[in-house]
Amino acid sequence: MVASGTYGWGEEAESLIDLDSLGAFVTKTVTLNPRQGNPSPRIWETPAGLLNSIGLQNDGLSEFQKTALPLFKNHRVPLIVSIAGETINEFLDLAIALESQSRVDALEINISCPNVKEGMLFGKSPKLTGELVRKLKNGCSKTMIVKLTPNTGEIQEVARAAEREGADCLSLVNTFMGMAIDPRTRRSRLATTFGGLSGPAIKPLALRLVYEVSKAVKIPIIGMGGITSGEDALEFIIAGASAIAVGSASFRRPDAPIKVLEELKSLLNDIGVENLEEIRGTFKDG
Ligand SMILES: Cc1cc2nc3c(=O)[nH]c(=O)nc-3n(C[C@H](O)[C@H](O)[C@H](O)COP(=O)(O)O)c2cc1C
Repeated sequence: MVASGTYGWGEEAESLIDLDSLGAFVTKTVTLNPRQGNPSPRIWETPAGLLNSIGLQNDGLSEFQKTALPLFKNHRVPLIVSIAGETINEFLDLAIALESQSRVDALEINISCPNVKEGMLFGKSPKLTGELVRKLKNGCSKTMIVKLTPNTGEIQEVARAAEREGADCLSLVNTFMGMAIDPRTRRSRLATTFGGLSGPAIKPLALRLVYEVSKAVKIPIIGMGGITSGEDALEFIIAGASAIAVGSASFRRPDAPIKVLEELKSLLNDIGVENLEEIRGTFKDG
């Protein structure tokens, strides 16, 4: 899959890769009302990584339904719409509005954005996550993926709470909160103080969390964080992920998701594995 926020809403993507060869297309997060996002600069490249503070810029739900959603009518790729609200009611309004859209296969509940005020409010709390998932599952029958934040010491508890209240799947990780300072001005390299770190720099951290969460829950996990190759992808699968997403790597090479898929197939062939099921979650500890 492509990771939310790194492949737009489909329009740009159509000219870059064959969308239908993806396992799923995950949209950038959509909010109820349009959001301008944070002021610039809001991207800063770090060694092997990227700090961003986009702040969920998007045109809001109605514009999404009017312009972005129809594009996918010409494609058969499974469509996952990422949504974020500031309150449970906002999340519910989004989920209920998308419930009637047959083209939408699943919702990804973004409770993990580090770049908006209260963006991680739910994702840091097992109690609030449980409450949110319960209400969403009661109000909407779409498959529900809950996207977790690594910026908590309680990721397993949050994962368990989401599973207990009916989440169908988890995705992790969103970005790690970080910062970069310009020593000359002593100010942040970004217009905001903090940003979210992604890219190869976070891969070992993300892999560890996918492994730990896979030990805590039975529902499937979509693993992500710094994946740029088939070998990276297979590490996440061995750690327990059922599927993987490619994010920042697409900024360097827009065809990165396809490259990862091809490399993964060839690697599986090399090591004599015919089906991912044979190797999923088979990490040998000790
Ligand atoms: C520029 C940028 C924008 C992002 N926007 C979103 C977003 O709107 N919603 C979301 O859930 N995650 C967002 N993410 C996080 C990614 O989906 C992904 O979880 C994270 O970047 C880790 O994967 P990666 O290291 O492969 O990029 C964004 C990441 C980047 C770099």
